[in-house]
Amino acid sequence: MKNLNKTIPLFFAALCLGATAHAEPGDKDRGEARAATCAGCHGQGGNSSIPSLYPSIAGMPAAEMEAALKAFRDGERDDPQMAPQATHLSDQDIRDLAAYYEAQERK
Ligand code: HEC
Repeated sequence: MKNLNKTIPLFFAALCLGATAHAEPGDKDRGEARAATCAGCHGQGGNSSIPSLYPSIAGMPAAEMEAALKAFRDGERDDPQMAPQATHLSDQDIRDLAAYYEAQERK
């Protein structure tokens, strides 16, 4: 019992450290750097020049974009062009991209 009383708080302290390291809020600047490839289809700043083929994603609410990107990445949503774009994204990449696009003005 004596050892357990020390181990349990240490275990939770380690869990908390791990959690904060991974749950950083989205960073617009990092998102912008990652968005270079997205612009090829979705347009500069997410304003598509062919919205019938490539949806405009400028100003999309961050929570909505996070859900969409995770769905493509995790195979819940499929599209031959879009799904491969999401496979290599980490949760942090997704938060960064979502923060960047949410801040763009829909034209
Ligand atoms: C090769 C072209 C292409 C590239 C590059 C691309 N996308 Fe897409 N994206 C699409 C197409 C096509 C769709 C529509 C698919 C569908 O609705 O099923 C789409 C859909 C989306 C959606 C869902 C929009 C909605 O209204 O539900 C989001 C969000 C998105 N893309 C974000 C991104 C991000 C972020 C990147 C860069 C990491 C990116 N895309 C790169 C082609 C592309």
